[in-house]
Amino acid sequence: MTIDLALTDSAALSQEELFMRIRALKKEMNAIILAHYYTLPEVQQIADIVGDSLALARAAEKNSADVIVFAGVYFMAETAKIINPAKLVLMPDEYAGCPLADSCAPDDFSALKAEHPGAVVVTYINSTAEIKALSDITCTSSNAEQIIRQIPADQEIIFGPDRNLGGYLSKKLSRKMTLWQGYCYVHDAFSEEYILPTCRLHPEAELIAHPECREEVLRHAGFIGSTQALLQHTVSSPVESFIVATEPGILYEMQKRSPHKTFIPAPKDPENPRSVCKQMKQNTLEKLYLCMLNRKPEISVDPQLRLAALGSITKMLEMTPV
Ligand code: 13P
Ligand code: SF4
Repeated sequence: MTIDLALTDSAALSQEELFMRIRALKKEMNAIILAHYYTLPEVQQIADIVGDSLALARAAEKNSADVIVFAGVYFMAETAKIINPAKLVLMPDEYAGCPLADSCAPDDFSALKAEHPGAVVVTYINSTAEIKALSDITCTSSNAEQIIRQIPADQEIIFGPDRNLGGYLSKKLSRKMTLWQGYCYVHDAFSEEYILPTCRLHPEAELIAHPECREEVLRHAGFIGSTQALLQHTVSSPVESFIVATEPGILYEMQKRSPHKTFIPAPKDPENPRSVCKQMKQNTLEKLYLCMLNRKPEISVDPQLRLAALGSITKMLEMTPV
């Protein structure tokens, strides 16, 4: 039987009570909770695996759970379902979409492909199943470089949908690439204008940045990498203080791993100092509990579309084994 509790009922529960109930449901359902680094700290706290897009896709591929609860954005849960059609995949909030993924319309992407018939299509995992179905290889910010290096130097490449990540890869690897002009509103909001004064104010701190940021930001960064690579860098580097140009949800894990170090979120602008992904924060603890209790919202993917999209995801996992 499905019990539809009003959010207000569960919102009256304390965090500890919600943790207890989620743990009990997890055991009862044989569920695994996957959470992206950009989700709320309390969601990261209860998750079995917290990671970046690549780590979560791998965790979705290799687990013995019957139910995957995905605290992230829609394309992440959709990818988990594509990899595991037989499993129940739940999302705390099915309306937590990624505007970058949603900005790339299949018809327009097909038209771009038609203009470059010989090109290999490498697509960021932040894309819909329809776009993955039109692609040869999926990638994440953690493995994009490794994947592009495996493509012959004379091979034409179309990269989408993130123009900043594509531009960064094209410059770093000296590869001519046709870029889809999408961007992440969180990372694209950072600019030199506001970051440079912060750098001057904290000369001891190193600016680290995600490649979804604009080139005008990346050129000042001491280190550029995916969310996971940035985290790793803050742990292994002897530097004690960092200005972090990515979604500030990662600061929770950075501070946890290096309690003695200082992390300064890179400013967006003086009125709105943090550039936050609103969609990631839609995954509240209450919604996480309710989706497990009610076994919905459930993610489903049309079987034909699933098969078409699976090819480019499988290719990514094969080209970048752990
Ligand atoms: P990574 O998880 O690959 O760092 O990507 C960041 C992001 O914006 C996820 O939506
Ligand atoms: Fe999409 Fe950007 Fe949010 Fe990631 S941070 S989910 S790319 S909007």
